[in-house]
Amino acid sequence: MAIDKITSAIIKDMKHKGEKIVALTAWDFASAKIVESAGVEIVLVGDSLSMTIRGDSNTLKITLKDMIYHTRMVSKACVKALVVADMPFMSCQVSPEQATTNAGRFLKEGDAQAVKIEGGVKMADTVEKVTDSGIPVMGHIGLTPQSIHLLGGFKVQGKELKTAKDLLADAKALEEAGAFSVVLECVPALLATYITERINIPTIGIGAGDGCDGQIQVTADIFGLLSGDVPKHAKKYVDLSKLMTGAVELYAGEVRSGTFPTKKHSFSASRELKDVIEKEEL
Ligand code: KIV
Repeated sequence: MAIDKITSAIIKDMKHKGEKIVALTAWDFASAKIVESAGVEIVLVGDSLSMTIRGDSNTLKITLKDMIYHTRMVSKACVKALVVADMPFMSCQVSPEQATTNAGRFLKEGDAQAVKIEGGVKMADTVEKVTDSGIPVMGHIGLTPQSIHLLGGFKVQGKELKTAKDLLADAKALEEAGAFSVVLECVPALLATYITERINIPTIGIGAGDGCDGQIQVTADIFGLLSGDVPKHAKKYVDLSKLMTGAVELYAGEVRSGTFPTKKHSFSASRELKDVIEKEEL
């Protein structure tokens, strides 16, 4: 039986039905398969993979080509979930035309159904142009990691009156431009709730409290894929790093002691080969 794909229109509808939207990131076929089979509505191929998977110190270095490569792997696993591809730094900032061409590549070459673009009022023309070309756009405001050098680091945004007003204007501009949803990253919970109640598109929070229409997390954080602490806004639901290191230690111990592999993990030879080898006539 064919499974119906979740669309950007369904996501928008969920806000009006009061249903919480569950979103997570994925970076390859295996991670996407896990996330998809757990039934999340949105799988984001986030450029955070440059930090969690590639080991970069920020998200600025990852290229369009690399993001398309990861998106293609994720799309293969997502039968139902909406796949949103993150437009990397400098793939959409130069002009609305450049953004539209590059967004199109995510659909044509990466099999994504939507793209995410960082920025509010200043990116509204771009969001409108990309949307007008038939590509659903998820906005992203608050802490926008592609602007860390301008923001002065990974800091909570919208704590003061002026910046809070700017964020509300950003959210409204994205709605007006046709975005189907907007990520609110690291903004005070009270402000995120206020914005959520004043726009008609869903807000997807990360470090933005429980008043948003949905939540997104970086899957490597909830998996505990890297050792050490996760950011304040994240929760480690499993300590994969510890579990996987334990598995590797067990394997190494068994290889060294000769208890792995056993007969169960080996292949038998034909009678003829056995005879020849026993007679040392090979
Ligand atoms: O790249 C990413 O993972 C993101 C999420 C934090 C929303 O942009």
